[in-house]
Amino acid sequence: MNTVHVTASRSYDVLIGAGLLPRLGTEARRLTKAKKAAIVSETNVFPLYGGATAKSLADAGFEVVSFVFPAGEESKSGETYLKLLNFLAENRLTRTDLIVALGGGVVGDLAGFAAATYLRGIPFIQVPTTLLAAVDSSVGGKTAIDLYAGKNLCGAFYQPSLVLCDIDTLNTLPDSIFRDGCAEVIKYGILYDPDLFAHLAEKGLDFDREAVITRCVELKRDVVAEDEFDTGARMRLNLGHTVGHGIEAQSHFEISHGSAVAMGTAIVTRAAATLGICSEETEASILEVLDKFGLPLRCGYTAESLYTSALSDKKRSGGTVNLIIPERIGFCRIAPTPVEEIQSFIKAGL
Ligand code: NAD
Ligand code: GLY
Repeated sequence: MNTVHVTASRSYDVLIGAGLLPRLGTEARRLTKAKKAAIVSETNVFPLYGGATAKSLADAGFEVVSFVFPAGEESKSGETYLKLLNFLAENRLTRTDLIVALGGGVVGDLAGFAAATYLRGIPFIQVPTTLLAAVDSSVGGKTAIDLYAGKNLCGAFYQPSLVLCDIDTLNTLPDSIFRDGCAEVIKYGILYDPDLFAHLAEKGLDFDREAVITRCVELKRDVVAEDEFDTGARMRLNLGHTVGHGIEAQSHFEISHGSAVAMGTAIVTRAAATLGICSEETEASILEVLDKFGLPLRCGYTAESLYTSALSDKKRSGGTVNLIIPERIGFCRIAPTPVEEIQSFIKAGL
């Protein structure tokens, strides 16, 4: 097992390893005298891991209640959020009790936002069960629900008290969901770490899961320590995301997040090479790694349609959008780009 300590407005450990779920109760008990623990999960994950999670918590003396909602992004909604708050209130959870988010990014974001706001904030633990949640969403304290106008438009920065990542839970992920998470893993290599990138380029999908997840969490820890509230360096984590969100929106969310991020990364990389911001070697190695993981490199949408979607992205700041552009493996620049230049930039990378 590896431990990464995150220092932020609330500091906490991220535990990463095989066979960790049975230890959840003991680890939670170290942190809290809570009487009750509310497991928040969804209909795909709870049948697989809800029993072990509840048993571990009960063995450590918690009174366990469970809130299980339909799997999928549609549940990251105001409606589910209010049902969850009412569930917590009906079960009389107090400010010293505990929420346990068991699932992927949807569960973590929703449960985290409920934890941030129920009784003005109660402790919560993230138990990520997707690769994306393990390397990204469970760490760093971004919590949110979607509004009708767009994804993640209502949320809070609220750090968990512990993240427990049992890598065995990734074994039940459908291939396509695992690959989605790989797009985020590759992102860390491009942004910060040539050695990580080289390991991924060599091993492809057979990468060392415990070591790679740990490295990604360390990299995210460093970003969060520098810019917890996303006003500067943390923006780099949006590599491929501005164009990617446009692709997701254009496809009416038929194209998965990971595939859209991969296409978005490929587009900004090709544009960077065309404009002389990165070398052709850098371009080729990024595209090769994405391809090696079976991730798509091209989309059928026009620069104009992607530009329109990019403009509704919440990362827009006044008349500019912060594009994250690869310069070399291990470094990407944050480029505040006037909205009128976005379309031609995307066109250069299509
Ligand atoms: P998800 O939670 O919907 O999980 C993807 C699919 O995998 C679902 O069908 C789920 O039921 C299934 N699943 C989860 N764990 C499983 C397991 N172990 N075995 C079998 N099936 C399993 O999606 P995700 O990709 O984990 O997360 C996407 C969400 O995360 C989005 O809402 C996105 O906005 C959010 N996100 C948040 C942050 C952040 O910093 N807070 C960062 C990135 C993404
Ligand atoms: N996933 C982006 C962030 O945590 O900032």
